[in-house]
Amino acid sequence: MAINDPVIAAQTPTADFQIEQRWRLYKDEEHAIWRDLYSQQISILKNRAVPEFYEGLTALNLNEGGIPNFAHINEKLMDLTGWQVITVPHLIPDDIFFEHLANRRFPAGRFIRSREQMDYLQEPDIFHDVFGHVPLLTQPIFANYMEAYGKGGLRALKYDCLKNLARLYWYTVEFGLMNTDEGLKIYGAGIVSSRTESIFSLDDPSPNRLHFDLTRVMETDYRIDDFQQIYFVNNSFEELFEATQQDFGPIYEKMSASDNVFGLTDILDSDKVYTKGTQAYAQSGGRFAKAS
Ligand code: PHE
Ligand code: FE
Repeated sequence: MAINDPVIAAQTPTADFQIEQRWRLYKDEEHAIWRDLYSQQISILKNRAVPEFYEGLTALNLNEGGIPNFAHINEKLMDLTGWQVITVPHLIPDDIFFEHLANRRFPAGRFIRSREQMDYLQEPDIFHDVFGHVPLLTQPIFANYMEAYGKGGLRALKYDCLKNLARLYWYTVEFGLMNTDEGLKIYGAGIVSSRTESIFSLDDPSPNRLHFDLTRVMETDYRIDDFQQIYFVNNSFEELFEATQQDFGPIYEKMSASDNVFGLTDILDSDKVYTKGTQAYAQSGGRFAKAS
């Protein structure tokens, strides 16, 4: 629980872990932090993100002067794709998370990072959740993908294959890159909301950049504490959505039997490679050692 969120403790969540945003309780300084993060990120991203991301940002008017009021976002989002943003405490159980996605509700945190955490924090705050995730929910195919993912999560729990499905989320929703006519672009929320990784992910020679392959991704390890050592690239959201339409049951059965995990620096014969990374950043100790 964040220190700058004392009201959470006083509020008992409902059975599906929803709490109220209580927008009026945000302090001026918290709104100022949002504005600073927003303008910093816009100027760093320039046109590094996919066009769909900017379309979403504009459609939702996320720059209305401070931390967005979910009630305002939800009116527009409902019209566009039927999605809603809801407020939840930091950690919610996996099945509750999937249940929300399956019903087109995106769970977001309420607290915003402090000035000392402008560049990095491991737990998602409202800037990551809303600036990072919500713009693409205005896009019909991505919106469908997220709903399908939620339903898939409930199935993965039954197969005891959550870690395989979690890797898919990680390498697409959080850290996905797109191959466009104008070169590689960012769509993952973990990247678009990060000052440093939005440069690193596209420009640094260190990480591997490989074309997306469903089972490859589901068997690939990832790191939660530093820049990724691998990014997976899709040609389009359609390609991503179609790859995930098949029944994962047989895939889960195979994966449970083999328990295979590829490492962070592996490049397989079957990989389609955009960049064979030097891994220099990770080898030098990482954690922004030489981050641009
Ligand atoms: N097709 C998957 C299944 O059968 C569900 C899924 C869809 C998972 C989209 C992730 C993304 O379990
Ligand atoms: Fe996220």
